[in-house]
Amino acid sequence: MVTQQSRAGSRSIESLGPKTKLYTPAFAIAPYAAYERMRQGGRTLAPVELAPNVPATLVIGYHTAVRVLNDPDRFPADPRTWEKSLPDDHPLLPMLGWRPNALRTAGKEHTGHRDALQTALSVVDLHAVRERTIRIAASLINKFCQAGKVELIEHFITPLVFTVLNETVGCPPGIGERLRVAIAAMFEGVDTEHVNAEVASALFELIELKRRTPAADIASWLVHRCPNLTDEQRMHQLVTIYSAGIEPVRNLIANTVRRMLTAVRYRHDNAHFTPPVRDAVEETLADDPPMANLCNSYPRQPVLVDRVWLPADQPVLVSMAACNTDPAIVGNRGWTDNRAHLAYGSGPHACPDMAREMSKQIAIEAIGYFFDAFPEAELADEIGWRPGPFHRAPAAVPVAFPPTPPLIIPPAPALR
Ligand code: HEM
Repeated sequence: MVTQQSRAGSRSIESLGPKTKLYTPAFAIAPYAAYERMRQGGRTLAPVELAPNVPATLVIGYHTAVRVLNDPDRFPADPRTWEKSLPDDHPLLPMLGWRPNALRTAGKEHTGHRDALQTALSVVDLHAVRERTIRIAASLINKFCQAGKVELIEHFITPLVFTVLNETVGCPPGIGERLRVAIAAMFEGVDTEHVNAEVASALFELIELKRRTPAADIASWLVHRCPNLTDEQRMHQLVTIYSAGIEPVRNLIANTVRRMLTAVRYRHDNAHFTPPVRDAVEETLADDPPMANLCNSYPRQPVLVDRVWLPADQPVLVSMAACNTDPAIVGNRGWTDNRAHLAYGSGPHACPDMAREMSKQIAIEAIGYFFDAFPEAELADEIGWRPGPFHRAPAAVPVAFPPTPPLIIPPAPALR
């Protein structure tokens, strides 16, 4: 075992001080103050807890994170050995547990999953995503436009992101609704066995449907353009797309709306030119990323990083939030339109290009459409934060606005 004195000039991660508890409401309220405390003494790594008595290392230095993310041999993403240390019903497992997919595998196994994923995502037409987002935004807005107030996460952002993704996957509303309920329960850690079975059954039904009646959508491409996959593997690819494709987009929209409602330069009554929504989205990705701490890896033996020993089979997470705001790269200049941020990860597991473009497209169109309909929207109350070690997520975004007549809903485009 590597201890504090085991190698000259190096230390163990445990010796760097008390572990910051990433799962507490206090951390959710003020994460950036916590990152600043972790950084004291120029540290690039910090000991943390993901849940009570579940230790991990958080990478908080930008340059260290880029090295870790691009070194999959020393930092493989496969959690199988680590998860044996947790009881089967541990609430972290639905989110972090092993699955046969790109996110949770390493080496050749990862390459196989990733290739299939890229093939399936290559069918996505960003023009269609834009039309879809606008149509769905309009129909959701019409449900609350005359009320003068609404809580956006429940009534606009969550249903919008889910429905746009569902249509892009090619999933009909009936199967989609079953999935929506089951996936939400999966990530709440509710009755995991039953919920996994329900997700699988809905997705097998979808796969069968696409085998008979293919269209230009993600599920059809998985069936017809990835002939080497079994239906079981296709089902896991779809679980990955749903689980990776909803939460971050939802947080990106919520965090950007919050930015635009609170930062003076984005306000409608600002005397100067108001920057476009795209700028607000890019800024949010850069300095308040939707997935704050993720990109988990599990070294197979003790590894030395920045003169600190990290133990084998213990999670190493990258704090995209801390790294993007690392004074070593940000200085006093702040972010311009710099795409070097880590919000979408880096290295072999980085978010696929099409998924990134799609997420930005959905966010920009949904937010733009909302502010076109309600230019005078104001925050109606304080925004609380949803606790959790991985996301940066407002609990609610309550807004008030002058009531507006319903919008004309653009027709659904013909099949592309
Ligand atoms: C704002 C939106 C998004 C953000 C911030 C985001 C962020 C990320 C990050 C940080 C990773 C790396 C995870 C890791 O290394 O463990 C990742 C991977 C991934 N993302 Fe995204 N993502 C977004 C949207 C999406 C969407 C819309 C989809 C699907 C349609 C998607 C699918 C994936 C997949 C499948 C991977 C795994 C790639 C691999 O392991 O090879 N993401 N994403």
